[in-house]
This record gives sequence, C-alpha cells and structure tokens, in this order.
Amino acid sequence: MRTIVLNRAADAGEWRQAARALLLAGIAPHEVDWRTGAEGTLFAKERPPPSPSGAGTRHPRVPRAFPELAEAVICHSDPGRFALLYRLLVRLQGSGHLLEIASDPDVAAARRLAKAVRRDCHKMTAFVRFREVPANGPAPGRRRFVAWFEPDHHIVARTAPFFAGRFADMDWLIMTPKGSAAFEDGTLTVSDAPALKPDLADAADALWAAYYAAIFNPARLKVKAMQAQMPRKYWRNLPEAALIPGLVASAQARVAAMARQEPHPPPAFHARLEARRPQVPAPPPSGTLDALREEARACAACPLHCQATQTVFGEGPADAALMIVGEQPGDREDLAGRPFVGPAGRLLDRMLREAGVDRREAYVTNAVKHFKFEPRGKMRLHRPPNAGEVERCRWWLGREIDLVRPKLVVAMGATALLALAGRKARLADMRGRVTQAEAGRALLVTIHPAYLLRIPDARRAEEETRRFRDDLDAARRWLESAGAVMRLRQMPATAG
Ligand code: URA
Repeated sequence: MRTIVLNRAADAGEWRQAARALLLAGIAPHEVDWRTGAEGTLFAKERPPPSPSGAGTRHPRVPRAFPELAEAVICHSDPGRFALLYRLLVRLQGSGHLLEIASDPDVAAARRLAKAVRRDCHKMTAFVRFREVPANGPAPGRRRFVAWFEPDHHIVARTAPFFAGRFADMDWLIMTPKGSAAFEDGTLTVSDAPALKPDLADAADALWAAYYAAIFNPARLKVKAMQAQMPRKYWRNLPEAALIPGLVASAQARVAAMARQEPHPPPAFHARLEARRPQVPAPPPSGTLDALREEARACAACPLHCQATQTVFGEGPADAALMIVGEQPGDREDLAGRPFVGPAGRLLDRMLREAGVDRREAYVTNAVKHFKFEPRGKMRLHRPPNAGEVERCRWWLGREIDLVRPKLVVAMGATALLALAGRKARLADMRGRVTQAEAGRALLVTIHPAYLLRIPDARRAEEETRRFRDDLDAARRWLESAGAVMRLRQMPATAG
C-alpha cells in the first residue's frame, strides 16, 4: 500500500500530477491510500513515483468531460474523493465512454459529489454577507469589507473569482473554516488555512433587516421553496434570518388584514401637494466631457444607481463626428465601467470594422448609464429600462451630444431611439436612413447588436447581421458625403 500525501485539500493540479505518475507506474487504485496535509503527517510520507518521460511514454487518455468533473469532485470534503477519481482515471484507460454510463457506481458517485460542490458554490455566492470595516488598506479610498461563511466543501478557491469579478471596486476578505480569500487593490489571494469566526457586526445590519422585512411579501410566502433556497444551516450568518420565523408566523394574519382593507384613493390634498412640489432645477451644465463624466459618477436621479456597480459613461474622442448610442450597460460593462465591452460590444466592433469604421474614432455611449438587472442566483439578468428611467437619463445623453457635437448620431435599438427622439417611434419605419431628430440633429436608426445574438435561426441571424452592417455602412457613407474628416476607412468595407 502506498500513502500519497497531497499538500492541499482541493488542488486539482496537484492531484492530477500524482495520479498521472501512479497510473504510468501501473499502480492499481486499491494499492493507494490518499491523504492530505495534516492527516498525512501521521503517516510515512511517500512521494508518487517519478513520471516516466521520453519517447515511448504513454500518456493517460481521458474524455474532455473528465478534467471539469475532477475539478469539481476534488473540492468535496469526502475523504474518498481522491481514490474515487483515481479509480475513474484508471478505468477510463480501458473504456473511454465510462462517464456516459450514469448507472455506473463510480460515475454516479462522482456526479453526486460534483453536484454537491456546485450547489455549495452557488450558496456561497448567494449567502456571503459582507460587513464594512475601517479602510486602512494599502489602497487609500477603497472601502474594505469582511465576511464569514461556512461552506460544506473546499470551495473557497473555486468561488473566489466570482467575488473578484462582482466586487472589483472594493477590498474584501472572505473567511471560512476551510480557508480564506482576500481581494486587495485588484489582487486575489486564496489560502487553505482555516479561519476563526471573526466578531462581525455592522450598523448596516439593522438597515438590511428593516429592508428585508419591508420587502417580505406575506401573500407570496412559500415556506418549502424558501427552506430549499435558504437551508437553515446558513441562517446563523445571515442578519435577516432572525426575522424569518416571526415573518412566517404572522404571514397569514397579514394577508387576511390586507384582504380586509378597502382600496382607497389618495387623500384629497395629495393632488394639491403634488402640484405645488417644486420642480428640481436642472444642475448647471458642465463645460467639458471630463467634468460631465465626473459628475455622472454620483448620479442618483433614478433608483438604478442603487443596484449597479458604477455609472458607465460614454467614451471616445470629444470631437467625434459619429456618436453611437446603445441601450444601457450590461453585466460586463457594469463591472468594467466602460460601454460595449461585452458580447454585444464585440459584435459591434466587428460590424463597425466590416463597415469600414474604426470604433476608436466614434463616441460610444448609452441611453441609460446604469445597469438594470434582476438577480437570479449567480446571474444578473438584464432588464430593459422603463420610460421613466430613460427620461431621467436623457439629460446626460443630451449633454454628451451638446459637448461632442457629432455630425451623425446612430441610435441602436428602441431605447436609444426613445432617448434621442424624446417620444416613442417605430424603429422599423426609420431604420437605415438618415433623418433629422430633435434640434436638427442627423440621426440614423438601426437595431441593437444584442438582438442579433438572440436570434436562434442561423440563416435569419446571418441576414439580420448583414442588414445591421449595411446600416453602419450607410452611416459611414453619409458621414463621408457630409465631409466628415474621420479616419473611418481603416478597413475596406466588405460587401453583403
Ligand atoms: N448593450 C448596450 O446597450 N450597451 C452596452 O454598453 C452594452 C450592451
């Protein structure tokens, strides 16, 4: 029997190296006793046999799905996970299709462990609650947060990149009994060392609890679904959890009380007060794009700023002849703080190139400057802005146009059109032609590139993509005929 001691509890690379060497040395799974770190020190440490190398060395063969499965399984806290994976690795050398046999006990066990790990990761992304701590880190100006979480498995390293992407604008530390992840000034560090539960309390906890109680809808209570989504073991670290039993117990009575209440019109004085409410005066206009961008950082004109990471302002030359207006930043743009850097942006760049337009010569912006989304597990699902949000944000777009003074504005999609035209108009009626919009501004309307990414039928997608490129090409031709001195034709326009 060989005892193989791995230094880390969930390092797929370390396990892979050891397993590969054992496999090449012909060691059978039942001859290996796998251990990790501290457990291993009680036993005589044995190194895996050196990997044979050179001509004639056979390399283990595994199907594509195996590395991904192994990376999840290795994070499980089951001490048998390394042996299970090694058994699978050995068996895969004889049967490349083994992973497709769902009834095989080893395959079923590996899938079960991987599923539990994924679920644990998902719970971590949902139930980590950060508490703010004094900002004395190396990067002044960055706020600092600490969170405590108790995962079932060794998932800190696997899940940390999610938090690094989501909370890139702050420094944070997530401590767990199975290791910690720290993010400081843009650098993520992960450690396996178990942490002790810190004493965390935050004045914002009471605020959060009050908010939770306020949005708790007794009429939509589904206790079973709630328990499945938020198992009790997570409650001890959630500030809102203490409220839940009371809210559940009082739900029925609250629903009955709501049903008894007659609908009533607003009090008579409401309309008078509304009429007298002073109109908020527009802030004095900023004189430069940079000043405007700075000012927009603090925009709180509509509730979208509460959820979004940051204001995503337009970018491009301050004297661009062409301005391109989209809808609102997406998930990637919200995190990066720049417009059109995600999938729709990449498609836009390609289409512009093919139409002979260099994106760097255009000013690219959005009708709405904050990302509107609905949280769905780890995902943030895009939600279109409503007319009120578009109206609130029009002020910024108007100022961008006043300062850049483009010769032509391209509106991509219905939201951009609404913001630029100031009223609802049918995109199909205006598409592809240069028209005069508000203040005599030249406007060309086309579809939004994200629309192309959603067309399921390949032939239709191709046709619509060609039409989009034709619209951008029309914009370039119009600008050239209007004498715009732009380095637009960096690439030859492709036909059709
Ligand atoms: N969609 C938009 O409308 N704007 C962006 O910046 C990204 C996606």
